[in-house]
Amino acid sequence: MRGPTPRRGRTLPELGLVRDGALLIRNGRIAAVGTGREVERAWQRLPAKERASTRKIDAEGRVALPGFVDSHTHLIFPASRVKEYQQRITGATYEQIARAGGGVLSTVRKLRAASSPDLKARALACLRQFAAHGTTTVEAKSGYGLDPASEIRTLHLLRQLKNEQRFEIVATFLGAHVVPPEYKKKPEAYVDLLCRKLIPRVAAEGLAEYCDVFCDRGAFSVAQSRRILTAARACGMKLRIHAEQLARSGGARLAIELHAASADHLEWINAADIRALAKSDVCCTLLPGCCFHLGLSDHPPARKMIEAGAIVALATDFNPGTCPTLNMQMVLSLACSQLRMTPAEAIAAATSNAAFSLSRAHRIGSLEVGKDADLAFFNVEDYREIPYYFGVNHCWLTLKRGQVIWNADGRRQGR
Ligand code: NIG
Ligand code: FE
Repeated sequence: MRGPTPRRGRTLPELGLVRDGALLIRNGRIAAVGTGREVERAWQRLPAKERASTRKIDAEGRVALPGFVDSHTHLIFPASRVKEYQQRITGATYEQIARAGGGVLSTVRKLRAASSPDLKARALACLRQFAAHGTTTVEAKSGYGLDPASEIRTLHLLRQLKNEQRFEIVATFLGAHVVPPEYKKKPEAYVDLLCRKLIPRVAAEGLAEYCDVFCDRGAFSVAQSRRILTAARACGMKLRIHAEQLARSGGARLAIELHAASADHLEWINAADIRALAKSDVCCTLLPGCCFHLGLSDHPPARKMIEAGAIVALATDFNPGTCPTLNMQMVLSLACSQLRMTPAEAIAAATSNAAFSLSRAHRIGSLEVGKDADLAFFNVEDYREIPYYFGVNHCWLTLKRGQVIWNADGRRQGR
């Protein structure tokens, strides 16, 4: 996984595969990477004391990748929406359910009533599952509070989670998820609240690195989204946007105009949008788990985007409404068979380009000297078998900055 960042077009699938490879990890960083022999030589050059205390993990021919970087999740939520799942199976659409007061708003009602310890315990259990499936970094959005107290509470929980365990969390403020019920008749007043009070407060307290907006039919218009994102940028926040998921509403163009880090979903973009995105540095984050879970066949035109030279990333969109999976291996399978990405393209999109979209490509997303030792090992002989044998967890061991955060065998690695 050595190579340029971001990866576009033909550089996307260049994995730089090393056979019989090895890595030397020192103080949580990659100190050497290459063939077993090369790494052995690098180890020989260490001071004798360090050599004596080196622990060795034999991966026994497994596949090692950079830990997955899941650059789009709604980590903090209070409960599943399994009732809506059944309603959709029997004919209702996502938007019909949302218009009837379900959807995001049903999660909002539950989150407001949930206790912080419960929300935290749930998120911690999810983080363990992320690690168990080979993910080492997640972006996590607020957006199920939608009033100042509940949004700030969600961001405080994210901060605690970040400080209290090894998993890396990148916080995003999504106060503009949908218009909350209190503002149903006066959405502009909610946009005012976000721009004048909430965003400045979130930025001043350093509670979120990114600001996101759901710019779509039934959520926020392009004009409202522009106001919100411009206010966030003025407060020093970086930008992401949920765009063109339900309809082609112009969110992708807005992302380009405002130099957003990422435009996510993009199911409904057209050829001109693709050309514009390809010329920009906006990362196109595709979320094939949503279409799968919603039973839709309107996939984003991933092949065209890659061929035009756009920066393509993959993420789960882990959330209770449209994508209740946190398994990036499953996302790779969907990217391959539904979006026609090759396994190599999908892996680079789920690691290197996703890290780029989180402004962390200098530190994570590939296995190169000097980067964090964030690694996932898989019980397969060929990396393509990770998406090929779909729907099961292949992950054997996950390391975050060189520390074991998941070990499928249960026994201690590295004796
Ligand atoms: O990314 N589209 C907006 N937000 C989520 C869905 C959230 C929900 O339904 O709870 C998404 O798909
Ligand atoms: Fe989302």
